[in-house]
Amino acid sequence: MSMIIFFLFCFIPISNCDITCRTTSWWVLQPFPKSLLQQFLDESKVTLTFNTSNPLARFMQDDEHPVYFEFNKQNDCEYTALPPILANITEQTFVEFKLEIPYLIQNNKNIMLKPLLYQNSLLNVFATHVVYGLPANFATMNADFDKNTYSISYEKGLVDVSFEPLIPNLVPFGSPGTANFSSFVDANVSPWLAFPFFSLSHNTKCASNIYNFTAPALIRPVKMVLNITGNILEAIPSGTYTNEGNHPLGAWQIDVPSKITSTYGCD
Ligand SMILES: *[C@@H]1O[C@H](CO)[C@@H](O)[C@H](O)[C@H]1NC(C)=O
Ligand SMILES: *[C@@H]1O[C@H](CO)[C@@H](O)[C@H](O)[C@H]1NC(C)=O
Ligand SMILES: *[C@@H]1O[C@H](CO)[C@@H](O)[C@H](O)[C@H]1NC(C)=O
Ligand SMILES: *[C@@H]1O[C@H](CO)[C@@H](O)[C@H](O)[C@H]1NC(C)=O
Ligand SMILES: *[C@@H]1O[C@H](CO)[C@@H](O)[C@H](O)[C@H]1NC(C)=O
Repeated sequence: MSMIIFFLFCFIPISNCDITCRTTSWWVLQPFPKSLLQQFLDESKVTLTFNTSNPLARFMQDDEHPVYFEFNKQNDCEYTALPPILANITEQTFVEFKLEIPYLIQNNKNIMLKPLLYQNSLLNVFATHVVYGLPANFATMNADFDKNTYSISYEKGLVDVSFEPLIPNLVPFGSPGTANFSSFVDANVSPWLAFPFFSLSHNTKCASNIYNFTAPALIRPVKMVLNITGNILEAIPSGTYTNEGNHPLGAWQIDVPSKITSTYGCD
């Protein structure tokens, strides 16, 4: 059922295929050597370079660039173009991981690359490939907001993450002590590259994730321990990575209304 509706509304290029969700997640900005990340840029269909004057540069070594890890659960996702009852019937809740590289330059503008995704819903893996042309893989995943743990199990390895909240409760966006979260808002300003399967022009497209931080949106800083086993994160080597939380290159738990736009021309 949802597949048929999906075909009807999203494969017609003129239709609006915006999706609204409530994103509950842990977001992490972590620096990595550009020499490692270059592999993701090289595999991209377009020419991209690192923006060395990005706002996080002063918190990193010169040879580093931030990676944006999203350990997401997307709740109650609905296609906004559908009549309310159909939108409700086709509602989706799923776990997804996104590896993103913000602050890349294409045509003299900031752009984000999403070179690797995992999702625990075959329908969404399919949709992500066809509608956005992003390399999503189907995996066994778990997001546990009571135990503060997140895991991905895939044929190429494992990701195990544990978080330690630095304050007892999530607090509204903008609360005292949360100013360092603004780096995540800034990193989401630029659109990301999409490569839709049914693009008439065969051109690279753009799409945006719009987070409404003025709607009740809750955040809190967390410490992170990330264990990677095998080559599940491709260019990111296996090993243990930590993040102390309340920093521009930090780690935060979020609960925020979100919208994923249809693809549009980048210029
Ligand atoms: C939509 O579906 C959810 C369950 O998935 C239900 O809780 C909710 O009441 C429904 N909303 C409407 C307007 O039917
Ligand atoms: C690099 O990033 C900065 C800060 O986001 C931005 O102002 C600037 O336009 C970007 N440079 C290019 C060439 O896109
Ligand atoms: C990560 O690995 C370390 C060392 O093996 C271990 O002590 C820790 O419990 C692991 N953490 C997670 C979240 O798997
Ligand atoms: C954000 O949410 C608030 C409250 O629900 C709403 O009034 C506002 O229009 C939303 N803003 C955007 C840009 O969607
Ligand atoms: C915000 O980040 C800066 C830079 O890492 C740090 O010095 C500061 O203590 C952080 N603010 C809070 C409230 O932890």
